[in-house]
Amino acid sequence: MKTLHDAFEHTLHDVYYAENAIAKALPKVIGEVENPGLRTALQDHLKETKGQIKVLDAVFKSIKKSPKGEKCDAIEGLIKECEGVMKDAKGPVAKHAMIVGCCQAIEHYEIARYGTLREWAKALDYTQAHEMLSGILDQEKAANHKLTHLAVTTVNSGAKA
Ligand SMILES: [Fe+2]
Ligand SMILES: [Fe+2]
Repeated sequence: MKTLHDAFEHTLHDVYYAENAIAKALPKVIGEVENPGLRTALQDHLKETKGQIKVLDAVFKSIKKSPKGEKCDAIEGLIKECEGVMKDAKGPVAKHAMIVGCCQAIEHYEIARYGTLREWAKALDYTQAHEMLSGILDQEKAANHKLTHLAVTTVNSGAKA
């Protein structure tokens, strides 16, 4: 890696791997969720994630590269943490609260990556890539806000019971 383009391409491989790993892990998480609002939110975000993979395919195409993932240790760790939490949780209250926390850690990771990538795309004059990556960034931010809203309106208040 030498140029900003190299860094851009490398990180694009990294998020491509991450989105595919998330799409694979989310159904298992959804299977553990009884809270209907949280369940719907995660199902919606799974659909969105599959769409994001298609958008990333188009981003690769826009820079004349074929889509490829490269193992991302960060997302592996975040997913492993979420799976561990689901296994360790003894009841639905802690389980739901921990799932929201873990999912928000994943959203924050994605927000960090897409924030970086879209600025690099802009600096490299990859206008189409900049627009597509900004669109994904907005979806990740919205998903994170939705989780915060669910936490404060239902998930955390259930914890008092
Ligand atoms: Fe995503
Ligand atoms: Fe996300």
